[in-house]
Amino acid sequence: MTDARITLDPAFRLGTIDRRLFGSFVEHMGRSVYTGVFEPGHPDADELGLRTDVLDLAREMGVSVVRYPGGNFVSNYRWEDGVGPRESRPTRLDLAWRSIETNEFGLAEYMAWIRRLGAEPMMAVNLGTRGITEALELLEYCNYPGGTELSDRRISNGDPDPYAVKLWCLGNEMDGPWQMGHRTAHEYGRIAAETGRAMHRLDNEIELVACGSSGRHMPTFGSWETTVLEQCYDQVDYISLHAYYQERDGDVASFLGSAVDMDAFIDEVVSTADAVQARTRSRKRLRLSFDEWNVWNQDRFGGEDSLDWRQAPRLIEDEYNVLDAVVVGSYLISMLGHADRVGIACQAQLANVIGPIRTEPGGPSWRQTIFYPFALTAQLARGEALRVEPDAPLIDTKAYGPVPAIAAAASYDAATGQAALFAVNRDSTNPLTLTVDLRALPGAQLRTHKVLADDDLRATNTQSHPDRVVPRELTGHVDGGTLTVTLPPASWNVLELSTTAE
Ligand code: AHR
Repeated sequence: MTDARITLDPAFRLGTIDRRLFGSFVEHMGRSVYTGVFEPGHPDADELGLRTDVLDLAREMGVSVVRYPGGNFVSNYRWEDGVGPRESRPTRLDLAWRSIETNEFGLAEYMAWIRRLGAEPMMAVNLGTRGITEALELLEYCNYPGGTELSDRRISNGDPDPYAVKLWCLGNEMDGPWQMGHRTAHEYGRIAAETGRAMHRLDNEIELVACGSSGRHMPTFGSWETTVLEQCYDQVDYISLHAYYQERDGDVASFLGSAVDMDAFIDEVVSTADAVQARTRSRKRLRLSFDEWNVWNQDRFGGEDSLDWRQAPRLIEDEYNVLDAVVVGSYLISMLGHADRVGIACQAQLANVIGPIRTEPGGPSWRQTIFYPFALTAQLARGEALRVEPDAPLIDTKAYGPVPAIAAAASYDAATGQAALFAVNRDSTNPLTLTVDLRALPGAQLRTHKVLADDDLRATNTQSHPDRVVPRELTGHVDGGTLTVTLPPASWNVLELSTTAE
Protein backbone atom coordinates (compact mmCIF):
# COMPACT_ATOMS: atom_id res chain seq x y z
CA MET A 1 0.00 0.00 0.00
CA THR A 2 1.38 3.44 -0.95
CA ASP A 3 0.26 6.83 0.35
CA ALA A 4 -0.65 10.11 -1.25
CA ARG A 5 -1.78 13.44 0.20
CA ILE A 6 -3.88 16.26 -1.23
CA THR A 7 -5.17 19.54 0.24
CA LEU A 8 -8.46 21.00 -0.94
CA ASP A 9 -8.88 24.72 -0.42
CA PRO A 10 -11.47 26.88 -2.25
CA ALA A 11 -9.00 29.78 -2.02
CA PHE A 12 -6.79 27.98 -4.55
CA ARG A 13 -9.05 28.73 -7.46
CA LEU A 14 -7.84 27.72 -10.90
CA GLY A 15 -10.75 28.84 -13.08
CA THR A 16 -14.43 28.37 -13.74
CA ILE A 17 -15.29 24.99 -15.23
CA ASP A 18 -16.83 25.69 -18.61
CA ARG A 19 -19.72 23.31 -19.34
CA ARG A 20 -18.27 23.06 -22.85
CA LEU A 21 -15.57 20.80 -21.39
CA PHE A 22 -18.12 17.99 -21.59
CA GLY A 23 -18.47 17.99 -25.33
CA SER A 24 -18.70 15.17 -27.82
CA PHE A 25 -18.36 14.68 -31.55
CA VAL A 26 -20.60 13.24 -34.26
CA GLU A 27 -18.88 12.75 -37.62
CA HIS A 28 -20.23 11.24 -40.81
CA MET A 29 -17.97 8.25 -40.35
CA GLY A 30 -18.74 4.56 -40.04
CA ARG A 31 -21.85 4.12 -37.90
CA SER A 32 -21.53 7.32 -35.90
CA VAL A 33 -24.49 8.93 -37.70
CA TYR A 34 -26.18 6.08 -39.60
CA THR A 35 -27.45 3.41 -37.17
CA GLY A 36 -25.76 5.43 -34.41
CA VAL A 37 -27.70 8.61 -33.68
CA PHE A 38 -29.96 8.20 -36.75
CA GLU A 39 -31.86 5.14 -37.86
CA PRO A 40 -35.27 5.63 -39.44
CA GLY A 41 -37.40 2.54 -38.85
CA HIS A 42 -35.67 1.62 -35.59
CA PRO A 43 -38.26 0.85 -32.86
CA ASP A 44 -36.90 3.77 -30.79
CA ALA A 45 -36.62 6.26 -33.68
CA ASP A 46 -38.72 9.43 -33.57
CA GLU A 47 -40.50 10.96 -36.56
CA LEU A 48 -37.19 12.29 -37.95
CA GLY A 49 -35.43 8.96 -37.58
CA LEU A 50 -33.42 10.06 -34.52
CA ARG A 51 -32.78 7.20 -32.09
CA THR A 52 -34.32 8.27 -28.79
CA ASP A 53 -32.45 5.53 -26.89
CA VAL A 54 -29.15 7.13 -27.99
CA LEU A 55 -30.46 10.61 -27.21
CA ASP A 56 -31.34 9.42 -23.70
CA LEU A 57 -27.85 8.00 -23.17
CA ALA A 58 -26.19 11.18 -24.48
CA ARG A 59 -28.35 13.18 -22.06
CA GLU A 60 -27.36 10.86 -19.22
CA MET A 61 -23.70 11.48 -20.13
CA GLY A 62 -24.30 15.20 -19.71
CA VAL A 63 -22.99 16.04 -23.19
CA SER A 64 -22.97 19.84 -23.45
CA VAL A 65 -21.74 20.58 -26.97
CA VAL A 66 -21.41 18.38 -30.08
CA ARG A 67 -18.97 19.01 -32.92
CA TYR A 68 -20.29 18.17 -36.42
CA PRO A 69 -20.02 17.03 -39.29
CA GLY A 70 -16.30 16.12 -39.07
CA GLY A 71 -13.47 15.43 -38.62
CA ASN A 72 -11.78 14.46 -41.85
CA PHE A 73 -15.22 14.11 -43.44
CA VAL A 74 -15.81 17.86 -43.47
CA SER A 75 -12.86 18.52 -45.78
CA ASN A 76 -14.69 17.18 -48.83
CA TYR A 77 -18.25 17.81 -47.70
CA ARG A 78 -20.87 19.93 -49.45
CA TRP A 79 -23.28 21.06 -46.75
CA GLU A 80 -25.97 21.85 -49.36
CA ASP A 81 -26.27 18.10 -50.08
CA GLY A 82 -27.73 17.58 -46.62
CA VAL A 83 -30.58 20.11 -46.67
CA GLY A 84 -34.01 20.10 -48.31
CA PRO A 85 -36.30 17.19 -49.09
CA ARG A 86 -34.56 13.90 -48.33
CA GLU A 87 -35.67 12.24 -51.55
CA SER A 88 -33.80 14.82 -53.63
CA ARG A 89 -30.53 14.70 -51.73
CA PRO A 90 -27.61 13.29 -53.73
CA THR A 91 -25.62 10.19 -52.86
CA ARG A 92 -21.92 10.99 -52.98
CA LEU A 93 -18.49 9.54 -52.35
CA ASP A 94 -16.90 10.56 -49.07
CA LEU A 95 -13.16 10.54 -49.73
CA ALA A 96 -12.13 10.80 -46.07
CA TRP A 97 -13.43 7.34 -45.15
CA ARG A 98 -14.00 5.92 -48.66
CA SER A 99 -17.70 5.62 -47.85
CA ILE A 100 -20.97 6.08 -49.69
CA GLU A 101 -22.77 9.09 -48.20
CA THR A 102 -26.53 9.17 -48.78
CA ASN A 103 -27.00 12.59 -47.13
CA GLU A 104 -30.23 11.39 -45.50
CA PHE A 105 -28.86 13.01 -42.35
CA GLY A 106 -27.75 16.61 -42.72
CA LEU A 107 -27.88 20.02 -41.13
CA ALA A 108 -31.61 20.08 -40.31
CA GLU A 109 -31.47 16.63 -38.70
CA TYR A 110 -28.35 17.58 -36.72
CA MET A 111 -29.98 20.79 -35.47
CA ALA A 112 -33.17 18.94 -34.51
CA TRP A 113 -31.08 16.27 -32.79
CA ILE A 114 -28.96 18.77 -30.85
CA ARG A 115 -32.03 20.67 -29.68
CA ARG A 116 -33.64 17.45 -28.49
CA LEU A 117 -30.43 16.66 -26.67
CA GLY A 118 -30.37 20.12 -25.08
CA ALA A 119 -26.75 20.69 -26.15
CA GLU A 120 -24.92 23.40 -28.07
CA PRO A 121 -24.00 23.01 -31.76
CA MET A 122 -20.39 23.31 -32.92
CA MET A 123 -20.06 23.33 -36.70
CA ALA A 124 -16.97 22.83 -38.81
CA VAL A 125 -16.60 24.46 -42.24
CA ASN A 126 -14.83 22.85 -45.18
CA LEU A 127 -11.51 24.62 -45.74
CA GLY A 128 -10.08 21.62 -47.60
CA THR A 129 -11.81 21.37 -50.97
CA ARG A 130 -13.81 24.58 -50.42
CA GLY A 131 -13.24 28.03 -48.96
CA ILE A 132 -14.53 31.42 -47.85
CA THR A 133 -17.60 31.54 -50.11
CA GLU A 134 -19.04 28.22 -48.96
CA ALA A 135 -18.28 29.00 -45.30
CA LEU A 136 -20.17 32.28 -45.63
CA GLU A 137 -23.07 30.61 -47.40
CA LEU A 138 -23.37 28.01 -44.66
CA LEU A 139 -23.24 30.69 -41.95
CA GLU A 140 -25.91 32.71 -43.72
CA TYR A 141 -28.12 29.65 -44.10
CA CYS A 142 -27.73 28.86 -40.40
CA ASN A 143 -27.78 32.20 -38.65
CA TYR A 144 -29.36 34.92 -40.80
CA PRO A 145 -33.01 35.47 -39.81
CA GLY A 146 -34.56 35.69 -43.31
CA GLY A 147 -35.10 37.74 -46.46
CA THR A 148 -32.02 36.50 -48.34
CA GLU A 149 -31.79 33.58 -50.72
CA LEU A 150 -30.01 31.28 -48.29
CA SER A 151 -31.88 32.19 -45.13
CA ASP A 152 -35.17 31.88 -47.03
CA ARG A 153 -34.06 28.45 -48.24
CA ARG A 154 -33.68 27.38 -44.61
CA ILE A 155 -37.16 28.73 -43.89
CA SER A 156 -38.71 26.97 -46.86
CA ASN A 157 -36.94 23.78 -45.76
CA GLY A 158 -39.00 23.98 -42.56
CA ASP A 159 -36.82 25.92 -40.09
CA PRO A 160 -38.16 29.48 -39.67
CA ASP A 161 -35.92 30.29 -36.71
CA PRO A 162 -32.21 30.84 -37.24
CA TYR A 163 -30.07 28.05 -35.83
CA ALA A 164 -27.94 30.62 -33.98
CA VAL A 165 -24.79 28.50 -34.18
CA LYS A 166 -22.15 30.27 -32.13
CA LEU A 167 -19.17 27.93 -32.30
CA TRP A 168 -17.41 27.37 -35.64
CA CYS A 169 -14.28 25.36 -36.46
CA LEU A 170 -12.23 26.74 -39.36
CA GLY A 171 -11.58 23.37 -41.02
CA ASN A 172 -10.19 20.20 -39.50
CA GLU A 173 -6.62 18.93 -39.04
CA MET A 174 -5.40 21.04 -41.94
CA ASP A 175 -1.77 20.08 -41.26
CA GLY A 176 -2.44 16.37 -41.95
CA PRO A 177 -1.44 14.89 -45.35
CA TRP A 178 -4.47 12.57 -44.98
CA GLN A 179 -6.77 15.60 -45.09
CA MET A 180 -8.41 16.45 -48.41
CA GLY A 181 -6.91 19.81 -49.37
CA HIS A 182 -4.40 19.94 -46.52
CA ARG A 183 -2.25 23.06 -46.40
CA THR A 184 1.01 24.46 -45.20
CA ALA A 185 0.86 26.51 -42.01
CA HIS A 186 1.24 29.70 -43.98
CA GLU A 187 -1.52 28.80 -46.45
CA TYR A 188 -3.86 27.73 -43.66
CA GLY A 189 -3.14 30.77 -41.50
CA ARG A 190 -4.09 33.05 -44.38
CA ILE A 191 -7.31 31.23 -45.28
CA ALA A 192 -8.29 30.96 -41.61
CA ALA A 193 -7.73 34.69 -41.10
CA GLU A 194 -9.68 35.68 -44.19
CA THR A 195 -12.52 33.23 -43.57
CA GLY A 196 -12.73 34.36 -39.96
CA ARG A 197 -12.75 38.03 -40.92
CA ALA A 198 -15.57 37.49 -43.43
CA MET A 199 -17.60 35.26 -41.09
CA HIS A 200 -17.37 37.85 -38.32
CA ARG A 201 -18.59 40.52 -40.72
CA LEU A 202 -21.68 38.39 -41.34
CA ASP A 203 -22.26 37.53 -37.67
CA ASN A 204 -20.13 39.18 -35.01
CA GLU A 205 -21.42 36.98 -32.21
CA ILE A 206 -19.77 33.82 -33.43
CA GLU A 207 -16.69 32.24 -31.82
CA LEU A 208 -14.03 30.70 -34.04
CA VAL A 209 -11.64 27.81 -33.56
CA ALA A 210 -8.43 27.70 -35.62
CA CYS A 211 -6.87 24.31 -36.36
CA GLY A 212 -3.84 23.57 -34.27
CA SER A 213 -1.67 20.56 -35.04
CA SER A 214 -3.43 17.21 -35.44
CA GLY A 215 -1.30 15.95 -32.61
CA ARG A 216 1.75 16.60 -30.49
CA HIS A 217 3.56 13.95 -32.55
CA MET A 218 3.30 15.93 -35.80
CA PRO A 219 6.74 17.07 -37.05
CA THR A 220 5.42 20.61 -37.45
CA PHE A 221 3.85 20.78 -33.96
CA GLY A 222 4.72 24.14 -32.42
CA SER A 223 5.85 25.86 -35.59
CA TRP A 224 2.40 25.18 -37.11
CA GLU A 225 0.65 26.91 -34.19
CA THR A 226 3.07 29.85 -34.29
CA THR A 227 2.76 30.47 -38.05
CA VAL A 228 -1.01 29.98 -38.09
CA LEU A 229 -1.65 32.22 -35.09
CA GLU A 230 0.68 34.94 -36.29
CA GLN A 231 -1.77 35.37 -39.15
CA CYS A 232 -5.16 34.77 -37.57
CA TYR A 233 -4.72 35.56 -33.84
CA ASP A 234 -7.11 38.53 -33.95
CA GLN A 235 -9.80 36.62 -35.82
CA VAL A 236 -10.05 33.52 -33.63
CA ASP A 237 -11.03 32.70 -30.07
CA TYR A 238 -9.66 29.18 -29.75
CA ILE A 239 -6.85 27.01 -31.09
CA SER A 240 -7.61 23.30 -31.39
CA LEU A 241 -5.78 20.26 -30.00
CA HIS A 242 -6.38 16.60 -30.92
CA ALA A 243 -4.96 13.58 -29.10
CA TYR A 244 -5.62 9.85 -29.15
CA TYR A 245 -3.83 7.33 -26.97
CA GLN A 246 -3.70 3.57 -26.75
CA GLU A 247 -2.08 0.79 -24.78
CA ARG A 248 0.96 -0.39 -26.75
CA ASP A 249 2.65 -3.80 -26.39
CA GLY A 250 0.88 -4.53 -23.10
CA ASP A 251 2.61 -1.55 -21.44
CA VAL A 252 -0.08 -0.83 -18.83
CA ALA A 253 2.07 1.58 -16.78
CA SER A 254 2.73 3.92 -19.71
CA PHE A 255 -0.92 3.83 -20.76
CA LEU A 256 -2.03 4.67 -17.21
CA GLY A 257 0.48 7.54 -17.21
CA SER A 258 -0.42 8.91 -20.65
CA ALA A 259 -2.33 11.91 -19.30
CA VAL A 260 1.05 13.48 -18.51
CA ASP A 261 1.52 13.72 -22.27
CA MET A 262 -1.86 15.43 -22.57
CA ASP A 263 -0.86 17.85 -19.77
CA ALA A 264 2.41 18.68 -21.53
CA PHE A 265 0.60 19.12 -24.86
CA ILE A 266 -1.82 21.62 -23.31
CA ASP A 267 0.99 23.52 -21.55
CA GLU A 268 2.98 23.76 -24.77
CA VAL A 269 0.04 25.07 -26.81
CA VAL A 270 -0.71 27.62 -24.07
CA SER A 271 2.92 28.82 -24.16
CA THR A 272 2.96 28.99 -27.95
CA ALA A 273 -0.31 30.93 -28.10
CA ASP A 274 0.84 33.31 -25.36
CA ALA A 275 4.13 33.94 -27.16
CA VAL A 276 2.16 35.01 -30.25
CA GLN A 277 -0.03 37.20 -28.04
CA ALA A 278 3.09 38.91 -26.70
CA ARG A 279 4.57 39.42 -30.15
CA THR A 280 1.35 40.76 -31.66
CA ARG A 281 0.68 42.99 -28.60
CA SER A 282 -2.86 41.60 -28.52
CA ARG A 283 -5.05 42.11 -25.48
CA LYS A 284 -6.85 38.88 -26.16
CA ARG A 285 -5.81 35.69 -24.38
CA LEU A 286 -6.57 32.66 -26.51
CA ARG A 287 -8.41 29.66 -25.11
CA LEU A 288 -7.92 26.04 -26.12
CA SER A 289 -10.45 23.76 -27.78
CA PHE A 290 -9.44 20.14 -27.18
CA ASP A 291 -12.00 19.12 -29.74
CA GLU A 292 -10.88 15.52 -30.31
CA TRP A 293 -9.57 13.33 -27.53
CA ASN A 294 -10.01 9.72 -26.51
CA VAL A 295 -8.50 6.26 -26.32
CA TRP A 296 -8.31 4.87 -29.87
CA ASN A 297 -6.53 1.62 -30.73
CA GLN A 298 -5.19 3.05 -33.96
CA ASP A 299 -2.86 0.10 -34.53
CA ARG A 300 -5.97 -1.98 -35.30
CA PHE A 301 -7.07 0.41 -38.09
CA GLY A 302 -5.61 -0.42 -41.50
CA GLY A 303 -5.84 3.17 -42.76
CA GLU A 304 -8.20 4.91 -45.15
CA ASP A 305 -6.73 3.33 -48.29
CA SER A 306 -7.56 -0.15 -46.98
CA LEU A 307 -11.31 0.60 -47.01
CA ASP A 308 -13.83 -0.53 -49.63
CA TRP A 309 -16.56 1.83 -50.78
CA ARG A 310 -19.42 1.00 -48.41
CA GLN A 311 -22.37 2.70 -46.78
CA ALA A 312 -22.08 3.18 -42.99
CA PRO A 313 -19.46 0.43 -42.52
CA ARG A 314 -18.35 -0.75 -39.08
CA LEU A 315 -15.29 1.48 -38.66
CA ILE A 316 -13.04 1.71 -35.59
CA GLU A 317 -15.72 0.39 -33.22
CA ASP A 318 -13.31 -0.07 -30.34
CA GLU A 319 -14.67 -2.16 -27.46
CA TYR A 320 -13.44 -0.40 -24.34
CA ASN A 321 -12.30 -2.19 -21.21
CA VAL A 322 -11.85 -1.17 -17.58
CA LEU A 323 -8.29 0.04 -18.15
CA ASP A 324 -9.45 2.28 -21.01
CA ALA A 325 -12.11 3.78 -18.76
CA VAL A 326 -9.60 4.56 -16.02
CA VAL A 327 -7.35 6.26 -18.57
CA VAL A 328 -10.26 8.23 -20.05
CA GLY A 329 -11.01 9.40 -16.51
CA SER A 330 -7.42 10.64 -16.24
CA TYR A 331 -7.84 12.71 -19.44
CA LEU A 332 -10.91 14.38 -17.93
CA ILE A 333 -8.74 15.15 -14.90
CA SER A 334 -6.25 16.82 -17.27
CA MET A 335 -9.01 18.99 -18.74
CA LEU A 336 -10.19 20.05 -15.26
CA GLY A 337 -6.60 20.73 -14.24
CA HIS A 338 -6.37 23.20 -17.15
CA ALA A 339 -9.81 24.74 -16.75
CA ASP A 340 -8.20 28.18 -16.76
CA ARG A 341 -7.25 27.77 -20.44
CA VAL A 342 -9.17 24.84 -21.94
CA GLY A 343 -12.66 26.14 -22.68
CA ILE A 344 -13.97 23.38 -24.96
CA ALA A 345 -13.27 19.65 -25.03
CA CYS A 346 -14.99 17.06 -27.22
CA GLN A 347 -14.56 13.38 -26.68
CA ALA A 348 -14.30 11.71 -30.09
CA GLN A 349 -16.77 10.32 -30.84
CA LEU A 350 -20.24 9.73 -29.37
CA ALA A 351 -21.67 6.52 -30.84
CA ASN A 352 -20.01 3.38 -32.27
CA VAL A 353 -16.95 5.09 -33.79
CA ILE A 354 -14.60 5.07 -30.76
CA GLY A 355 -17.72 5.97 -28.81
CA PRO A 356 -18.88 5.62 -25.22
CA ILE A 357 -22.25 4.53 -26.64
CA ARG A 358 -22.65 1.38 -28.74
CA THR A 359 -25.68 0.48 -30.82
CA GLU A 360 -26.83 -2.40 -32.96
CA PRO A 361 -28.86 -1.69 -36.11
CA GLY A 362 -32.48 -2.46 -35.26
CA GLY A 363 -31.27 -3.51 -31.81
CA PRO A 364 -30.25 -2.15 -28.42
CA SER A 365 -27.80 0.51 -27.34
CA TRP A 366 -25.53 0.26 -24.31
CA ARG A 367 -22.93 2.10 -22.27
CA GLN A 368 -19.29 1.24 -22.88
CA THR A 369 -16.94 1.36 -19.88
CA ILE A 370 -15.68 4.83 -20.83
CA PHE A 371 -19.22 6.18 -20.55
CA TYR A 372 -19.02 6.29 -16.76
CA PRO A 373 -16.05 8.56 -15.98
CA PHE A 374 -17.41 11.03 -18.54
CA ALA A 375 -20.96 11.00 -17.15
CA LEU A 376 -19.86 11.29 -13.52
CA THR A 377 -17.32 14.04 -14.22
CA ALA A 378 -19.89 16.03 -16.22
CA GLN A 379 -22.39 15.59 -13.38
CA LEU A 380 -20.14 16.38 -10.42
CA ALA A 381 -17.48 18.85 -11.67
CA ARG A 382 -19.33 22.08 -10.95
CA GLY A 383 -18.33 25.63 -10.20
CA GLU A 384 -14.60 26.32 -9.94
CA ALA A 385 -11.70 24.02 -10.62
CA LEU A 386 -9.31 24.06 -7.67
CA ARG A 387 -5.55 23.81 -7.78
CA VAL A 388 -4.45 20.53 -6.25
CA GLU A 389 -0.84 19.57 -5.75
CA PRO A 390 -0.83 15.84 -4.97
CA ASP A 391 2.06 14.60 -2.92
CA ALA A 392 2.53 11.07 -4.23
CA PRO A 393 5.20 8.51 -5.06
CA LEU A 394 6.40 8.19 -8.64
CA ILE A 395 5.91 5.27 -11.01
CA ASP A 396 8.47 4.55 -13.74
CA THR A 397 7.06 4.31 -17.25
CA LYS A 398 8.78 3.39 -20.48
CA ALA A 399 7.01 6.06 -22.53
CA TYR A 400 6.93 9.02 -20.14
CA GLY A 401 9.60 8.43 -17.50
CA PRO A 402 8.54 8.82 -13.85
CA VAL A 403 4.87 9.84 -13.43
CA PRO A 404 2.99 10.56 -10.18
CA ALA A 405 1.09 7.52 -8.88
CA ILE A 406 -2.00 9.67 -8.60
CA ALA A 407 -3.69 12.01 -11.08
CA ALA A 408 -6.16 14.35 -9.40
CA ALA A 409 -8.39 17.37 -9.96
CA ALA A 410 -11.04 19.02 -7.80
CA SER A 411 -14.04 21.29 -8.10
CA TYR A 412 -15.92 23.49 -5.65
CA ASP A 413 -19.30 25.09 -6.17
CA ALA A 414 -19.74 28.03 -3.81
CA ALA A 415 -23.45 28.26 -4.66
CA THR A 416 -24.22 24.79 -3.31
CA GLY A 417 -21.22 24.14 -1.05
CA GLN A 418 -20.56 20.90 -2.96
CA ALA A 419 -17.05 19.80 -3.79
CA ALA A 420 -15.71 16.87 -5.78
CA LEU A 421 -12.30 15.25 -5.98
CA PHE A 422 -11.45 13.16 -9.05
CA ALA A 423 -8.52 10.79 -8.70
CA VAL A 424 -6.84 7.98 -10.60
CA ASN A 425 -4.57 5.46 -8.95
CA ARG A 426 -2.03 4.69 -11.67
CA ASP A 427 -0.49 1.81 -9.76
CA SER A 428 -1.94 -1.30 -11.37
CA THR A 429 -0.91 -3.67 -8.57
CA ASN A 430 -1.15 -1.73 -5.30
CA PRO A 431 -4.01 0.14 -3.66
CA LEU A 432 -3.22 3.71 -2.63
CA THR A 433 -4.21 5.33 0.65
CA LEU A 434 -5.24 8.90 -0.06
CA THR A 435 -5.36 11.45 2.74
CA VAL A 436 -7.24 14.65 1.92
CA ASP A 437 -6.86 17.76 4.05
CA LEU A 438 -10.35 19.31 4.13
CA ARG A 439 -9.82 21.86 6.90
CA ALA A 440 -10.52 24.76 4.52
CA LEU A 441 -13.96 23.32 3.73
CA PRO A 442 -16.20 23.88 6.78
CA GLY A 443 -18.21 20.85 7.88
CA ALA A 444 -16.91 18.74 5.01
CA GLN A 445 -18.41 15.27 4.78
CA LEU A 446 -17.94 12.48 2.28
CA ARG A 447 -21.27 11.88 0.53
CA THR A 448 -20.15 9.18 -1.88
CA HIS A 449 -16.99 7.54 -3.13
CA LYS A 450 -17.63 6.06 -6.56
CA VAL A 451 -14.98 3.94 -8.23
CA LEU A 452 -14.44 2.33 -11.59
CA ALA A 453 -12.06 -0.60 -11.13
CA ASP A 454 -12.11 -4.36 -11.55
CA ASP A 455 -9.95 -7.37 -10.85
CA ASP A 456 -10.14 -7.96 -14.58
CA LEU A 457 -8.78 -4.85 -16.32
CA ARG A 458 -9.84 -6.35 -19.65
CA ALA A 459 -13.53 -6.64 -18.74
CA THR A 460 -15.90 -4.90 -21.18
CA ASN A 461 -19.60 -4.22 -21.61
CA THR A 462 -21.14 -6.08 -24.52
CA GLN A 463 -24.56 -6.50 -26.08
CA SER A 464 -25.12 -9.68 -24.08
CA HIS A 465 -23.55 -8.28 -20.85
CA PRO A 466 -24.15 -4.52 -21.06
CA ASP A 467 -23.71 -3.99 -17.31
CA ARG A 468 -20.64 -6.13 -16.69
CA VAL A 469 -18.66 -2.97 -15.79
CA VAL A 470 -20.38 -0.25 -13.75
CA PRO A 471 -19.14 2.12 -11.04
CA ARG A 472 -19.23 0.78 -7.46
CA GLU A 473 -19.51 2.63 -4.15
CA LEU A 474 -16.79 2.50 -1.51
CA THR A 475 -16.59 4.08 1.91
CA GLY A 476 -14.18 6.46 3.60
CA HIS A 477 -14.20 8.56 6.72
CA VAL A 478 -13.60 12.16 7.72
CA ASP A 479 -11.90 12.71 11.04
CA GLY A 480 -10.87 16.15 12.31
CA GLY A 481 -10.99 17.66 8.82
CA THR A 482 -9.02 14.81 7.25
CA LEU A 483 -10.54 12.35 4.82
CA THR A 484 -8.92 8.98 4.35
CA VAL A 485 -9.89 6.72 1.46
CA THR A 486 -8.40 3.75 -0.32
CA LEU A 487 -8.09 3.88 -4.10
CA PRO A 488 -8.01 0.36 -5.59
CA PRO A 489 -5.21 -0.52 -8.07
CA ALA A 490 -5.73 0.99 -11.54
CA SER A 491 -8.89 2.82 -10.55
CA TRP A 492 -10.77 5.98 -11.44
CA ASN A 493 -12.48 7.56 -8.42
CA VAL A 494 -14.76 10.45 -7.62
CA LEU A 495 -15.28 11.65 -4.04
CA GLU A 496 -18.39 13.75 -3.65
CA LEU A 497 -18.20 16.10 -0.66
CA SER A 498 -20.74 18.28 1.06
CA THR A 499 -19.82 21.28 3.22
CA THR A 500 -21.67 23.72 5.42
CA ALA A 501 -20.09 26.69 3.60
CA GLU A 502 -22.54 29.39 2.53
O1 AHR B 1 -12.23 10.90 -34.92
C1 AHR B 1 -11.73 10.23 -36.03
C2 AHR B 1 -10.80 11.10 -36.89
O2 AHR B 1 -9.63 11.38 -36.17
C3 AHR B 1 -11.32 12.45 -37.29
O3 AHR B 1 -12.08 12.42 -38.45
C4 AHR B 1 -10.05 13.23 -37.54
O4 AHR B 1 -10.22 14.61 -37.33
C5 AHR B 1 -9.04 12.58 -36.62
O5 AHR B 1 -7.86 12.30 -37.29
